Amino acid sequence: MKVLVAGGAGFIGSCYVRLAIRAGHAVVVLDKLTYAGRRENLREVEDAIEFVEAAIEDAATVREVAAGCDAIVNFAAESHVDRSIADQDAFARTHVIGTGVLLDAVRELRIARYLQVSTDEVYGSIGEGSFTEESPLSPSSPYSATKAAGDLLVGAHVRTHGIDAVICRGSNNYGSRQYPEKLVPLAILNALAGDAVPVYGDGRQVRNWLYVEDFARAIDVVLREGRPGAVYNAGGPDEAENLDLVRRIVELCGAGESLIERVRDRPGHDRRYSLSSDRLRELGWEPATRLADGLPRTVSWYRENEWWWGPIRSGEYREYYERQYGRRLRGG
Ligand code: NAD
Ligand code: DAU
Repeated sequence: MKVLVAGGAGFIGSCYVRLAIRAGHAVVVLDKLTYAGRRENLREVEDAIEFVEAAIEDAATVREVAAGCDAIVNFAAESHVDRSIADQDAFARTHVIGTGVLLDAVRELRIARYLQVSTDEVYGSIGEGSFTEESPLSPSSPYSATKAAGDLLVGAHVRTHGIDAVICRGSNNYGSRQYPEKLVPLAILNALAGDAVPVYGDGRQVRNWLYVEDFARAIDVVLREGRPGAVYNAGGPDEAENLDLVRRIVELCGAGESLIERVRDRPGHDRRYSLSSDRLRELGWEPATRLADGLPRTVSWYRENEWWWGPIRSGEYREYYERQYGRRLRGG
């Protein structure tokens, strides 16, 4: 198969690209290289892929690059909830306009299959039990609302234009190469540096943690075997409250719990996410990595790969960090 991977220079997309190359696919990566998109994420497969730097909203380039591909897998996104609260603009453009451009290309070029990478956040928060693929969409943040809009657009193109498309909704991913604006890598790098580790609100929010390689495998399975038009949830094997997770991270980093600092909560903060993945399990998928193994492995990766995160911590990230945490950590 020749697969166009949009957003393939990001955290999960690059993990999927490595898997697709191992599986023998030809891969073209189309990525805008935002602050979160990094060519070095593709270092191991650089010689095996074709790379095009462009936005998915760029219809002419998308058509040119997609011609001759058998499938499009779309990871391209603005992926951070906190940034969407500060400024939603790029979120709507990428998740709605960009997804629409890719869907037009699928229809016009008769591309055999389209896979939209989506998120459990489109369902909103759940007190008990787990969301199934039939649960109503009730997104809380501009990030998740625009992701939900992208998913709805995919469904509309299946029904209206008869394209073959599938959606895979994952829970919170963690692992190597995640940009340190997200809780797990942020806590690891702060703890390793002896800096305060910020926890929003009471820290009792629950997330369902999925090792990135397990999500990449889920996407591969759905791409190959998913029923046309269907949605598949991919949930991680372990739930954890944020505060407990951060305590485990701080300990793995050899730091003390006194670094953990409760700060002002995220507005509209979802309390708990939980996915039922029964439909995907019927296709033979199981998450292989428990948090007890994946978390130490992730901490070790960050310990050993300062070449990867060092330049991030000293660049745009510093300004972002000050905007997001400066006042919060000073009690504001
Ligand atoms: P990421 O921020 O690490 O990577 C996103 C990639 O998309 C980057 O390489 C970026 O340059 C690229 N990109 C952004 N806007 C683009 C545009 N307009 N055109 C082309 N490329 C663009 O994100 P991630 O965590 O790897 O997430 C990938 C996908 O998985 C997203 O769709 C996200 O919604 C979804 N997802 C993420 C998680 C998670 O926990 N991180 C969980 C479930 C689903
Ligand atoms: O659930 C899937 C989603 O997981 C993906 O769709 C998103 O792309 C991804 O960013 C992630 O969203 P979250 O908002 O859940 O992830 P984040 O790492 O930002 O936050 C995880 C939890 O930790 C959340 O409850 C907020 C909290 N948090 C986060 C940060 C960055 C803190 O307490 N302190 C922090 O500094």
